Formats: sequence, structure tokens, C-alpha cells
Amino acid sequence: MLILRPPRIHPSEITDEALFWNRRLFLGAAVGALAAAVPSALAASRLPAPRSRDDELTPYDDVTTYNNFYEFGLDKRDPSRNAHTLRPHPWTVRVEGEVHNPKVYDVDELARRYPAEERVYRLRCVEAWSMVIPWLGFELNRLLKDVEPTSHARYVAFQTLHDPDQMPGQRSGVLPWPYVEGLRLDEAMHPLTILVTGLYGKPLPNQNGAPLRLAVPWKYGFKSIKSIVRIRLTRDQPPTTWNLAAPREYGFYSNVNPDVDHPRWSQKRERRIGELLRRPTLMFNGYGDQVASLYAGMDLRRDY
Ligand code: MTE
Repeated sequence: MLILRPPRIHPSEITDEALFWNRRLFLGAAVGALAAAVPSALAASRLPAPRSRDDELTPYDDVTTYNNFYEFGLDKRDPSRNAHTLRPHPWTVRVEGEVHNPKVYDVDELARRYPAEERVYRLRCVEAWSMVIPWLGFELNRLLKDVEPTSHARYVAFQTLHDPDQMPGQRSGVLPWPYVEGLRLDEAMHPLTILVTGLYGKPLPNQNGAPLRLAVPWKYGFKSIKSIVRIRLTRDQPPTTWNLAAPREYGFYSNVNPDVDHPRWSQKRERRIGELLRRPTLMFNGYGDQVASLYAGMDLRRDY
């Protein structure tokens, strides 16, 4: 009998995963630069957000073991230790409210309908740390167009699963449950706003918000709600969990803004996970070219 021996590969020939992704992203950036030369507003608006040279991807291990997901505990390590109790399949998302065409989607159906594309976004947590993550997902506006918002729709409200058996942290009173978040309709329709189904080319780990979470890269991380079961279009501004818990500290808009300090700490600088020195925080987390016009005429110190 012929026994196939595994090929002898020297460890130095195996590409480290982060390096592999950095190469892919470098290639992606080159394609992006070509596309940017196309004089089409649409092509430009759909380009992934620009990354500077020093935006190295945060290693997969950090992205998946240093998390905020209070439904699984308060320590950064708790979600990766505890989120195995979450059952992300089967899973449905209800889209309702001010829409002509309310629907309940199965996540697998969503994945078939809206094939995932890769977007590398910085995530800036309100606690003054940040990561650079290769997300997989699709633009939320595709789903919202599908349900046909009525002329009364002005906001979009999101809700996380409420099930203390799967999310034991919901037995504690640290936050009002279920976790809820909201966006203005134009923010939700913006091409940078995505529904995330994976990261680093893999399905979304439970601790990162499986099977479906939001990523809004110009806002503090807490706006990017995890494990979504309900999306409701509304006439009025919906409540948000952190604003309910501490209204003086967390507003509805929560755009990344180094000029507005958190009442208990400065927002001027941030620690990129994996780095020693802190770096300056950028207005709108560096996405101002693409999103500042959404807030023309607003006082972002008052509407924080
Ligand atoms: N969503 C839910 N349901 N519960 C949470 O505690 N934490 C938020 C946000 N979404 C949170 C949530 C906060 S504070 C941050 S910074 C990001 O998730 C962290 O996302 P990550 O763990 O994938 O980096």
C-alpha cells in the first residue's frame, strides 16, 4: 500500500496569518487606488475606507480574546471564555416598523442573498483602545432598501437577543437588557455601515457578536451592537443602552471626537491593541471625508 507522506515544509515557509492578511490588504489597496482613479461618484463612495501605512491588522487572537460583550461578563477575557453558551444557529432577524415590506430573515438566507465582502475598519472603543479588523459583511442599506422604508422612517433601532440561558450576563443588573442601539436613517444607509457576518475570512466568533452584528466605523465601538435579532425603523429617536445607563457620558450620536472628552477621561489619544505607545485619535475615527457631511450644521459637542 502506498503511504502518502506529508510534504516537508520548513516553518519559515508558512506565512503567518496576520502577514497573509496584510499582503492581501496591500493588494486590495492597490486595486482600490485604481478604482479611485475612475471618475465615478458611485465607485468612490463604495471604496473601503482608507488605511494609513501604520494601520497594521490587529492579530486574530487579540480581536477574539479582548472583547466587550457584557452579556458574557465585564472582563475583556470573559466573552471568549463564556460565549460558548450562545447558539447562533438557527437564527432569525426581524425587520419591521416603518417599512412597506416587513420580513423575518433567516441568517443563512441573508448570507446567500448578500454575499459577504471584506472591509478593513478601525474600531475605536470609547475606553480609548482601538483595533484594525478585516470584517466580512454587507452594507446595511441593501437590507433596508429590501424592506422599503416608508416616508415616516427617520431612525433605525437595533436589538440584541434577550435570553439569559444563552447570555448569562443578562441575569445581572449591570445594564438594562436587551442591549439596544440606534442610528439615524441616513447614517444607517451610508455605504460604510455594514452588517458583519465574519472576520479574518472566517465566520463571526460568538464573542464578536455571532451571527450578525453592526460595524459603524466612525462611531465609538458601543454603537456596533452584537448578535442582532430585531431591526426596527422608527419615526422617533430610539433609546440606546449606554445612554439609558449613563446619559451624561454616552449620547445618541457618539461620533469619535478627540475634542470632546468623556466626563471621566480624555478622548484625545488611544492605545492600539498590541502597541505600547498611544496614538492620537482622529476625528470621526479617520473617516471624516466620507461622513462629516452627514452632520453639517450640527454642534457635535452638544450632540455627542
Ligand atoms: N453589543 C452587545 N450586545 N453587548 C455589548 O456589551 N459592547 C459594545 C459593542 N457591541 C457590546 C455590544 C462595545 S462597548 C464595543 S467596544 C464593541 O462591541 C466591541 O466589539 P468587539 O468585542 O468585537 O471588539
